[in-house]
Amino acid sequence: MHPVSRLRPAPQIIVLDAGGQYCHLIARKVREFGIYAETRPSETCASKLSAARGIIISGGPSSVYDDGSPTVDPAIFARRQPVLGICYGQQLMAHLLGGHVRRGDRGEYGLATLELDASSDPLFSGLDGRQQIWMSHRDAVAAVPRGFRVAGRTATCEVAAMAAPERNLYAVQFHPEVVHTTRGRELLHNFVFRVCGCMPDWDPQHRAARLEEEIREYAGGRKVFFFVSGGVDSSVAFALSIRALGENRVRGVYVDTGLMREGETESIARLPGISVEHAERRFLGALAGVTEPEQKRHIIGEEFVRVQERVIEACRLEEEDWILGQGTIYPDTIESGGTAKASLIKTHHNRVAGIQRLLDAGRVLEPLKLLYKDEVRAVGRELGLPAELLDRHPFPGPGLAIRCLCSPCDAPVRATSDGWVIPVHSVGVQGDERSYRAVLVIDRLDHEAGTELINRFSGVNRVVGMVAVRALLSRMSVRACSLTPGRIEGLRKADAIVRRLCQETGFDGQVWQFPVILIPLGTDDAPDSIVLRPVESVDGMTARSAAMPRPLLQQITSELLALEGIAGVFYDLTHKPPGTIEWE
Ligand code: XMP
Repeated sequence: MHPVSRLRPAPQIIVLDAGGQYCHLIARKVREFGIYAETRPSETCASKLSAARGIIISGGPSSVYDDGSPTVDPAIFARRQPVLGICYGQQLMAHLLGGHVRRGDRGEYGLATLELDASSDPLFSGLDGRQQIWMSHRDAVAAVPRGFRVAGRTATCEVAAMAAPERNLYAVQFHPEVVHTTRGRELLHNFVFRVCGCMPDWDPQHRAARLEEEIREYAGGRKVFFFVSGGVDSSVAFALSIRALGENRVRGVYVDTGLMREGETESIARLPGISVEHAERRFLGALAGVTEPEQKRHIIGEEFVRVQERVIEACRLEEEDWILGQGTIYPDTIESGGTAKASLIKTHHNRVAGIQRLLDAGRVLEPLKLLYKDEVRAVGRELGLPAELLDRHPFPGPGLAIRCLCSPCDAPVRATSDGWVIPVHSVGVQGDERSYRAVLVIDRLDHEAGTELINRFSGVNRVVGMVAVRALLSRMSVRACSLTPGRIEGLRKADAIVRRLCQETGFDGQVWQFPVILIPLGTDDAPDSIVLRPVESVDGMTARSAAMPRPLLQQITSELLALEGIAGVFYDLTHKPPGTIEWE
């Protein structure tokens, strides 16, 4: 038996993933109650779910009438095992059990007021009356299946909750897992404890000792090698392994690509057991003269592979007494989880032949693979790792390279009745493909204008507001340039200013991520500009452009404009979709 899985509890609650962005959030909320929950693909056969005390069907973007839309094994409804459908989960339950789902064209998105009937149903215990909920749906249940009753409604949704308590079947159209549903936590709590009768079996606050035991068991007498990135996951996995096995049996290598933030390499080099592989010249050399975003990413991925191969060979890691340690976390391990690009960067790393052989031979230690990010942070706190490390924002593998825009040619700024079109190419997510399009500058920080303007301007996928400029925009232009050490250094300084001020004011704790972007827009004396891109997000899959307190923005702007070569400061107003968080 695999030693790491021996200590894994059987999930009491299984969340069936119908494609919703909040599927993981539901499982995390259940775990916060001290109950171990996992997610599974929605189509999982009922016999594989029978050991769970309860099932939750997540929301999802489809309509039950779409070809190939997610479904569930209807047998789950027939055996009194508690099931809670959320949003699409409610529609699916109604559809499969003979109710009627009405197709909607416009839908309902945002806050609404729920009127919940008084009843003795355990799910709604203590929750009757009016309350704020958060809705995000197009279709809706128009008639509940036989044996169900409508349990709650809003002004526009006649079946906001339905129940068949004798069969232990419940469903809600709103999202109890998001904070904007003020009593959503109580509803989930009722489901887990009153309906399903779960007993606490999961304590994310005290996992370090158990994880160390698992590491010792898995490693046996072998040594562990990590490529550490400086991010939360690989740092926590590395620190746990050192605690479990001692410094002599754990090695970490950090690759300095020359594309890291200020102070990063120095702070990582101070950690015990880590050596730095200096590859700055290789990376910057390979990127010289390159302007095309996908090509930049490709070159960086290929260089990573080469550097890793060299390290593996030099350290003779393929010999039997080594295993590979990785900071993989739960959303990375399952089909529906992770971001598309997170998995892309992993394919780059995994393509290293030496790593692939270790993977094929099952010689890979992944101590965090059952944990969510916030649980990993809790383990890190238990280990006494510094808060600056644990609370840090995600930082992409290709580093500052994808935040330093380049241009193959000189090009003028174009005035329109809505603003100025800047001919740099930033990435967006229109449809399934990544598209590279121009940027529209408007003269105000209007966070709601973005989506409407992008829909109207076909050649644009991002809208930024002008914060301050040192020359008229009509006098500025985009110039031909690539990734030079000087431009990377300028961006590194700008990023350090923004990070320092955000940490001092606590603003960094209010946003998911805050990329700082350098774009080649300016004048002869000051050829570049800075774009600020603070975003709020749950998992990076969707994001909202975040507003910032005025005094902080003013301070950031004045320090950035004092940097040599910076002509202007702009503020990205684009949500995701249609823009991505990163600019390339
Ligand atoms: P986008 O730009 O697609 O980013 O909205 C979503 C999240 O993924 C991160 N990201 C990356 N992370 N390697 C990584 O390790 C990459 O190549 C990469 N590209 C984007 C991004 O920072 C955000 O958190």
